[in-house]
Amino acid sequence: MGMKRMADDNLKEFTKEELAQYDGNGVRAYVAIDGIVYDVTKEESWEYGKHYGQLAGRDLSKEIEGTPHGKSILGKLPIVGKLVD
Ligand code: HEM
Repeated sequence: MGMKRMADDNLKEFTKEELAQYDGNGVRAYVAIDGIVYDVTKEESWEYGKHYGQLAGRDLSKEIEGTPHGKSILGKLPIVGKLVD
């Protein structure tokens, strides 16, 4: 287990509304999967917060299932926080 997988308790908390502000348009692009918020800003295929019809600033836990890459892609993305209610 890598460092960034540990100590969830210290992660910045995002509500759904806060996450929605990071839609990649003039701001960073964040995406939540299974309660963890990832930064996709530097991903070319996420330019303007759009990626194969998906939009940043959202919880895409269901949408990522059945994609070509699945959740294996998450390991390369910086973690910036966790999603809270
Ligand atoms: C319906 C949803 C999605 C579809 C159809 C989709 C499809 C694709 C495809 C076709 C690629 C290029 C092939 C590849 O590099 O594997 C790709 C790359 C990528 N996707 Fe997705 N994706 C979806 C959702 C997501 C989500 C939710 C995330 C992040 C949370 C994500 C993160 C990435 C990243 C980081 C890459 C770059 C791969 C690399 O550079 O190795 N994708 N996606």
